[in-house]
Amino acid sequence: MEKNVKKYLILTYGCQMNVHESEKLAGILETNGYECCTNAIDADIVVFNTCAIRENAEEKIFGNIGELKNIKIAKPDMIIAIGGCMSQQKNYADEILKKYPYVDIVFGTHNLADFENLLKKRKESGKKVSEITEDETIALRDRLTIARTSGVNAWVNIMYGCNNFCTYCIVPYVRGREVSRPEEDILREVKQLLSEGYKQITLLGQNVNSYKGKDKDGNEISFAKLLFDLDNFDEYKYRIRFMTSHPRDLSSETIDVIAKSKHICHGIHLPVQSGSNSVLKVMNRHYDIERYNSLVKEIRDKIPDSELTTDIIVGFPGETEDDFEQTLEVMRYAEYMQIFGFIYSKRKGTPAEKMTNQVDTKVKKERLSRLLELKNEIINRRTAEMKGKEYEVLVESYDENKNLLYGSLDSGKTISFAGPKTCVGEFIMVRVKEVRKSVIYGEIVNLDETISFAEKNFKHPIEVSILPKDQNSMKILRQNKQKKKEEDNKKSQK
Ligand code: 5AD
Ligand code: SF4
Repeated sequence: MEKNVKKYLILTYGCQMNVHESEKLAGILETNGYECCTNAIDADIVVFNTCAIRENAEEKIFGNIGELKNIKIAKPDMIIAIGGCMSQQKNYADEILKKYPYVDIVFGTHNLADFENLLKKRKESGKKVSEITEDETIALRDRLTIARTSGVNAWVNIMYGCNNFCTYCIVPYVRGREVSRPEEDILREVKQLLSEGYKQITLLGQNVNSYKGKDKDGNEISFAKLLFDLDNFDEYKYRIRFMTSHPRDLSSETIDVIAKSKHICHGIHLPVQSGSNSVLKVMNRHYDIERYNSLVKEIRDKIPDSELTTDIIVGFPGETEDDFEQTLEVMRYAEYMQIFGFIYSKRKGTPAEKMTNQVDTKVKKERLSRLLELKNEIINRRTAEMKGKEYEVLVESYDENKNLLYGSLDSGKTISFAGPKTCVGEFIMVRVKEVRKSVIYGEIVNLDETISFAEKNFKHPIEVSILPKDQNSMKILRQNKQKKKEEDNKKSQK
């Protein structure tokens, strides 16, 4: 008879930081004997890891919590927990518990490491549990087992929180003030990940350029120095990415380190938000467009194969047609490889929420569609230029049904091509064969050589789904990693 193992389902919303924090939650639940499942109907516990960055994220989450009501009626023992940025907002915990009385636990961004205790408290007391703490240094103290979810990619927090208070943004209110992890901890974690076979490490922080860590002797370590030190594990082949950069804090020293590095990617995400100086000023971004453009030039001059990506907000309070035209102008100048465009969304408690010169919804929508039109034009042209060129690709996944491999270029762009699944986890050369509406298709250069190299290197099939957030793939991956560990143990015992 099959053992009755308890199951968990984690629903993740928002950014990479949240995806990584869900891996920490999964680690806590697995340490407590839970197994991952893909459907709320099978789950003994459902955890929502929420996002609050824009109103539509919240609406979607509330809708999904509402959908669980009938399942909870059918399965009253199922525990529903709501955590993350949405819960951390002022008065939200009470509101959630009032509006959705079948929710069992609400916890804030700083209470994640304590989730095991919150769960225990709920089970022992039978009462609802609500824990929202303000202490942002808690994260530094956590030593959680992380249930990592993607075969070749691993995320590493280098800092938590944000001190910038851009006037539209909720993040500083729900993530607290900046705290940087000690350099030693980061170096140790990255080295460990590389030794386990991870190939692409993404450093996470709301503003990585203002990283201020300490080394073993208590000396201050800048982001440039951290990158320099992370570039030195030469016994491994790997890539380091980082997000997100703030144009005020991206230093020449950091650009120099990237330019001279062996392992740091040349794709840089540099959110501009707006091309207009008056809007940037009211946004409290602390740079003007001249500073931004000179950074773009410096990056291009020092790193000729660099690729920039960006975030842009349209319809910020007071944005005029002329301001918006200037945003289109910076898009043309920077020639981004990817642009994430957002309609400004009012966030409770932020200064911009109270501004009286809000832009009409119709105008915001019209500006976003013009932005997307230009974005497509730029990106389609930039990707079309790639046709016929050869790139080093990290093969990240294999789709059994389509018989296709998916990989990432140094710039972060995805490429798909035919090849055997033994290539997953390898760096191989791929030629761009075709570009259709900025989707890139390639072919392996030196096919026979690559296949025999991959086969020789092939240690274990890493079956990775194309969607890292896909719950099923998390499960397959973890099973695969477990199997590999067991095989390695057996081998070392022989
Ligand atoms: N409205 C719209 N977009 C926002 N962002 C942050 N706050 C808001 C908001 N209130 C965007 C910014 C940021 C990205 C992660 O989300 O562009 O860089
Ligand atoms: Fe938000 Fe600005 Fe901090 Fe980024 S830098 S998280 S946009 S406040």
